[in-house]
Amino acid sequence: MNLYDLRTEYRVDPIGITALKPRFSWKINSEENDTVQKSYHIVVKNGDTVVFDSGVVESSQSVLVEYAGDALLSETLYHVEVEVVDNHEHQAKGEMTFETALFDNAEFKAEMITHDFADDETACPVFEKEFTTDKEIASARLYATAHGVYEVYLNGPRVGEDRMTPGWTSYHNRLQYQTYDVTALLNDNNKIEMTVGNGWYKGILGFTLEPNRYGDHVGAFAQLHITYKDGTKEVIATDDSWDVRTGTIRYSEIYMGETINTYDPEVYTRKAVIKPFDKSVLTAQENEPVRITERISPKEFIVTPKGEKLVDFGQNITGLVEVKVKGEKGQKIVIRHAEVLDKDGNFYPETLRSAKSIDTYICNGQEQTFLPHFTFHGFRYICVEGLEDLSTAKFTACAMHSDMAKIGEFSCSNKKVNQLQSNISWGLRDNFLDIPTDCPQRDERLGWTGDAQVFSWTASYNRNTALFFTKWMRDMSAESSLEKGVPHVCPDILGQYSASAWSDVACIVPWVVYQTFGDKRILEENWRCMHEWVDYITNHCGENGLWQSGFQYGDWLALDKEESADRTGATDKYMIANAYYIYVTDIVRQAAVVLGKKEEADKYSALYEKTLESFRDEYYTKTGRIVSETQTGAVVSLYFNLARDKDREKILNTLITNIANHKDHLSTGFVGTPYICHALSENGAHEKAATIFMKEDYPSWLYSVNMGATTIWERWNSIKPDGTFDESGMNSLNHYAYGSIGDWMYRKVAGISQLEPGYKKFKIEPMFVKGIESVHGALDTVYGRIVSDVTCREGKITVHVEVPANTTAVIILPEKEGEQVLGSGSYDFEYATQTSLLVEKFSMESTLGEVVAEPLAVEMFNSYAPGMLDNPLIKFAFGMSLSEMLGQAPEAKPLYEAVINALNKQEKENG
Ligand code: BGC
Repeated sequence: MNLYDLRTEYRVDPIGITALKPRFSWKINSEENDTVQKSYHIVVKNGDTVVFDSGVVESSQSVLVEYAGDALLSETLYHVEVEVVDNHEHQAKGEMTFETALFDNAEFKAEMITHDFADDETACPVFEKEFTTDKEIASARLYATAHGVYEVYLNGPRVGEDRMTPGWTSYHNRLQYQTYDVTALLNDNNKIEMTVGNGWYKGILGFTLEPNRYGDHVGAFAQLHITYKDGTKEVIATDDSWDVRTGTIRYSEIYMGETINTYDPEVYTRKAVIKPFDKSVLTAQENEPVRITERISPKEFIVTPKGEKLVDFGQNITGLVEVKVKGEKGQKIVIRHAEVLDKDGNFYPETLRSAKSIDTYICNGQEQTFLPHFTFHGFRYICVEGLEDLSTAKFTACAMHSDMAKIGEFSCSNKKVNQLQSNISWGLRDNFLDIPTDCPQRDERLGWTGDAQVFSWTASYNRNTALFFTKWMRDMSAESSLEKGVPHVCPDILGQYSASAWSDVACIVPWVVYQTFGDKRILEENWRCMHEWVDYITNHCGENGLWQSGFQYGDWLALDKEESADRTGATDKYMIANAYYIYVTDIVRQAAVVLGKKEEADKYSALYEKTLESFRDEYYTKTGRIVSETQTGAVVSLYFNLARDKDREKILNTLITNIANHKDHLSTGFVGTPYICHALSENGAHEKAATIFMKEDYPSWLYSVNMGATTIWERWNSIKPDGTFDESGMNSLNHYAYGSIGDWMYRKVAGISQLEPGYKKFKIEPMFVKGIESVHGALDTVYGRIVSDVTCREGKITVHVEVPANTTAVIILPEKEGEQVLGSGSYDFEYATQTSLLVEKFSMESTLGEVVAEPLAVEMFNSYAPGMLDNPLIKFAFGMSLSEMLGQAPEAKPLYEAVINALNKQEKENG
């Protein structure tokens, strides 16, 4: 037995910690099955002094064990030793360290400094200071932040690799600072330079394109602590002794792009000016920083029909393009960004709306590498101007996002479903850029709460979101109140508050983090905000105890109401609002239980019962019809357990009938989509869930895959079958909300779901989907890796399950009765079955259009029925299925069957 992956506050040997009671986690690796931790013993030392000795604690807790020793000191390195004994009496030890930052903001001597350049100066200021050191240095730490976004350079090299620091928080309330180890960068003579871009603080922000949301001057704030080997210390801090100049970055806006002039920038130099700044808002970096996590080479160079010169990177990403080039002195290179080409193959930047996303470089005649500093774009293609021949430069697309660890794997035997998983995963990466954004490309990129809420489970199956959401929820909490409720976007720049499914984020996201990572602290921290959101709704209810007033987004973008100005779908908006009201009241009740708040638990339990009763009176008839017999109306009734027990079957039938009326397609929006497959799978209609999941024509998940999507679209028909676009002015190709199906893919198809917080106890219950013969699911939980691999092929089912040490799994095998409860270990099952999940690619339900897309089919039709396909009437029938066509031409049956058989044979041979 051994310990591995020891962490303090989710991080490996972190620096810059300011938690008063940091929490320690470790994982156990054991050769033996059924391993459970029997006891742990933690010792924390500052040098040789023991500051915390837990003693031997008989407990299986190995996740987020809280420090309970002497008060921690600022800027101190602590060593942690953990000793564990398991139930087999094996013993193992592990070590880790953590270093604290400044606990008291009064310890910061630095001032926020700014400039007094002319108001119309757009160049990013560079704040700088020279200083000397004349003794040997033991260590040096730089604490830095900005009003705006910054980069620091020390004696030339960039400090750290993080981008868009200090990130976006509710700046009035909270401003993160970053801690860097700069020991290796210092010399005797030193120069520190700090460049600040407008970023979210001062830049143009929101679809109304307003600048100066938080202030009209950027600012720099830095404090360098040097510890000499003789034990003395020195502090270099931003103040009015610093200089400020304009540099090579002449313009930078998140939406608009950046201009870098390395040839003849106008340089003005001044003394820095002190800016009023309340240091109490400072807080140490809370989440993983934004970083470049992948570099992608061009897939293709294209000259469009319009003559535009493009680079296609093959993947819609968020980030930047690095250009390596040797231009002439003064040569201007312009890079524009777009997600997609239009149906004629021309550059199509319309999905960006008013965001220009243009980067401009002025060359200096040398070999140069350009990469923007304070912006990011959502793109797959770039259009390059100012270079005759694109092969004279090297282009690399750099994907950037909050660098959360990847914890989930989902793959299967179906290529299109794998592409869907890839699109979901990219949608996550592209939109978790310090805050969870709706989309990364257009003049928005805001922390829309509804989008993040519906996607939060899926996100947490794929990446470790604990710190990311912890930070974001602190902003949520800071900006929410009993009076106003919870904002629609966080950080709030719109001033819009309190709508169901959006503002419910306040309760749902902490609950997701608690369930996924076993993190109770997020419930403690957000308890006020969580229960006040429920209280806010209660305060806005009518006499019947229901919330039936005010603005609602409803089932946003659902297809069951003709697109109207409010885009809210056909389901009664207040039915949705009250469904969520009940759902979050239940979460708050459960959170109260977890936090040991008995009185509150009783209060919310009573509220839950009462509201549910009123809900049933209002939204169901006595015989179980729903006020809104829509898919979403039925889905929330089942999934949120709102329907009376006696009515559940009827409501399930309502749902199934509705789906059948849509030719087995969904018609749901933001509210119904995450739950529709769950509602079916959990109520005995899993096959129906599988059917709508595997649909390939509009509207469906795989429709966008067939249309070449590499991310999840905002709308089911963002791109129409003929290659034209939705023209509502709101058509992003990178919106993760509909990617929320990922939760069902992990939970139901791979079958992995948590039963106890952190997956201390979990369930493996894979459910078959016709068309998917094998599935691989894996999840690196806080205890270790869960694996669920399932195959059903050629009359045999095989299941491989891995259960991490210190956890228990409840395993329900496909087509077997009962469940087995297993401790840690690796297990394999194999048994016979009659089931075949194989689906031939072509059937009588394939459309004529699909069939004649295959040259073999065209050949066959031409030889058996010459001229048939040239008939203009036949062209109109391309959307019809072969079985529909047979209705009109029954005599063609043998021909159609021969074509289908030949195509499926060809498909098999090609693998
Ligand atoms: C955003 C959404 C958001 C919605 C709310 C849109 O502009 O992109 O995804 O949730 O507004 O109405």
